[in-house]
Amino acid sequence: MSTGANLRETAVSQQAAPRLLEWYDRHARVLPWRAPPGAPAMDPYRVWLSEIMLQQTTVAAVKSYFQRFTALWPTVQALAAADEAQVMAEWAGLGYYARARNLVACARQVAAARGFPDTREALAQLPGIGPYTSAAIAAIAFDQPETVVDGNVERVVSRLFAVLTPLPAARRELTELASTLTPQARPGDFAQAMMDLGATICTPRNPACGICPLMDLCAARAQGIAPELPRKAPKAAKPLRTGTAWVALDDRAVLLERRPARGLLGGTLAFPTSGWDGTDLPPPQDGPWDAAGEVRHVFTHFELRLSVLCAPLANPTRGEVTPRDGFDPNTLPGLMRKVWALAS
Ligand code: ADE
Repeated sequence: MSTGANLRETAVSQQAAPRLLEWYDRHARVLPWRAPPGAPAMDPYRVWLSEIMLQQTTVAAVKSYFQRFTALWPTVQALAAADEAQVMAEWAGLGYYARARNLVACARQVAAARGFPDTREALAQLPGIGPYTSAAIAAIAFDQPETVVDGNVERVVSRLFAVLTPLPAARRELTELASTLTPQARPGDFAQAMMDLGATICTPRNPACGICPLMDLCAARAQGIAPELPRKAPKAAKPLRTGTAWVALDDRAVLLERRPARGLLGGTLAFPTSGWDGTDLPPPQDGPWDAAGEVRHVFTHFELRLSVLCAPLANPTRGEVTPRDGFDPNTLPGLMRKVWALAS
């Protein structure tokens, strides 16, 4: 890289944080897990819980879950003492259920250790806390100058420095460039300011460059290519899987089954199924089984079509006969809610 480009990058790195923090002081989103700009950090329990919920899930979807969890379990000690099945039921609908199992395991470790550790390295030892989440908690809850890189931040940085390399190959370069921006002062506010900028101004399509606090530092804006970045390598099509879901019910009860702790929808309450998850199981009872239709669902690594079959409940050989007055379909994962919507 030429010296001119290096000098320019150094100037951008020095100016971005003060400008962004000044913008954040006026425009920070008000979120239930967030301290106002410049205020002392939020309780680490709330920072941790929000960051786990926000992995692969939108702010809009997380808000009500966060409020419900903190009302039911206001401290990490309370969550550590919770019944895991109740936590799974409250998590239902958020997806990626391994997060809920790790949540309980992590809460128990933290409660036994009498609190969260305050460094990125120690946080990363806990269940469910990877490189992104450990950096986010260290920065936001403990004001450590760690660099937090999520999809929003990758987009902002790729535009600020006009990185043309496509994702995912660009990831390391973007993380290194992002780390040149992280300030020693207010790193938690800075991390959240980058997320807010990415979510509200430096958006994937139609970025609002005209009101961006980093407008005149942005190389992509100068070149007129901001909306095209970050470039992305073409994604492989998701493979298609198929299977069967059985809904056995009568006026009083419905047949459910707790899924194995490891694997797809691990630990959740579900209808008995076969075929899509590596199993090859017979129906959970005799029929007659009637076809109710087909449910489609998209997982991270495959697309699923499940045939839904219904029968009157009669002497099942597996599963749990669940009284209908104690059955709340909202405690099922999203896929199983679709199955119930077809069958009921
Ligand atoms: N996405 C992930 N973490 C976030 C946070 N703390 N604030 C807003 N969006 C986020």
